[in-house]
Amino acid sequence: MKWNKYDVIFITVVVAVIVVLVLGTTERTTKAVPNDAMHIQATSRAACMACHGVDSDKPQPIGHPSSSKCFQCHTQPQDWKVAKP
Ligand code: HEC
Ligand code: HEC
Repeated sequence: MKWNKYDVIFITVVVAVIVVLVLGTTERTTKAVPNDAMHIQATSRAACMACHGVDSDKPQPIGHPSSSKCFQCHTQPQDWKVAKP
């Protein structure tokens, strides 16, 4: 098969798309929950929000998801104490 310039352009575009997709697949960047004394004790959304509510020192950023499953996105602290029933 003889390659014309459209084949070359097509191949170049395909390769560029693949490179962009592969480079985009990096580690997720959402911040981990710190593994410190105040964080390993917090076992409910209410506890987290007592310190991360709108009027707190460290509020969730504007546009933050309202989900209550914090650990779905922020990695759980290593020594986290699971809520006792
Ligand atoms: C007693 C108050 C308090 C409680 C309870 C608390 N936090 Fe925090 N949190 C802080 C403070 C203060 C900081 C900022 C200082 C730091 O990075 O340690 C922080 C930082 C963070 C950060 C950002 C870390 C970074 O690298 O910047 C995340 C994410 C976070 N908390 C999530 C949570 C989640 C999820 C919970 C509930 C399981 C929670 N926090 C409970 C006070 C609290
Ligand atoms: C759907 C995913 C998701 C869930 C669920 C989630 N967060 Fe976040 N959170 C993010 C993203 C994305 C950011 C901003 C980017 C980053 O943290 O690097 C963020 C940022 C934060 C920050 C600010 C960190 C900093 O230092 O700027 C705090 C505090 C925080 N979240 C607390 C919480 C708490 C508390 C909960 C549970 C009530 C929670 N998040 C649930 C995705 C989520």
